[in-house]
Amino acid sequence: MYYKIAPMSAHDLLEVVEIEETSGLSRWGWDSYNAELERGDSIMFVARRDPPDGEGKYLLGFVAARVGAEEMHVNNIGVRVSLRQRGVGGELLRRALAAAESLGAREAFLEVRAGNVAAQALYGAHGFEIAGRRRNYYQDPAEDALVMRKRLAPRA
Ligand SMILES: CC(C)(COP(=O)(O)OP(=O)(O)OC[C@H]1O[C@@H](n2cnc3c(N)ncnc32)[C@H](O)[C@@H]1OP(=O)(O)O)[C@@H](O)C(=O)NCCC(=O)NCCS
Repeated sequence: MYYKIAPMSAHDLLEVVEIEETSGLSRWGWDSYNAELERGDSIMFVARRDPPDGEGKYLLGFVAARVGAEEMHVNNIGVRVSLRQRGVGGELLRRALAAAESLGAREAFLEVRAGNVAAQALYGAHGFEIAGRRRNYYQDPAEDALVMRKRLAPRA
């Protein structure tokens, strides 16, 4: 499966939102991703193929994170349902962590639904450990969040 990890651009946003809407993620929508892209402290990558697939789709998945005060926060990561468990999510996460390290981040944090076994396994495979639990952090449906944390090796 040929694809490249590349910085997200405004041209990607329609497909990013489509993947978000079909992945059970908290809804950000086009405007929020666009605003996030324009910030200086965001880390946003897509897994993109070119030429597109038979349905004209370029994106396999995306990741959205932010760095501030030497901390990285992973906000969203999603891969098209039909393309999961082939390493795409792992590649996206690896690139985002490396970008955060080169911006000087010392730790990475994220929240994940307590029942989201696939995402927890992905994060665990990349060195994240459970650091706490936030009760009823999510709505629709209500669910606790697990807070996961990973120590980084800053290069800035
Ligand atoms: C979480 C998600 C991004 C993973 O993407 P992916 O491309 O399938 O992940 P990868 O193929 O790179 O998997 C990497 C590792 O994660 C773990 N993993 C991924 N999916 C898994 C699953 N369904 N069950 C168990 N482990 C899983 C495995 O350890 C895997 O390593 P392995 O393939 O060597 O065993 C994808 O399942 C997704 O889009 N889910 C919906 C959105 C979501 O929940 N995002 C996280 C919000 S916090």
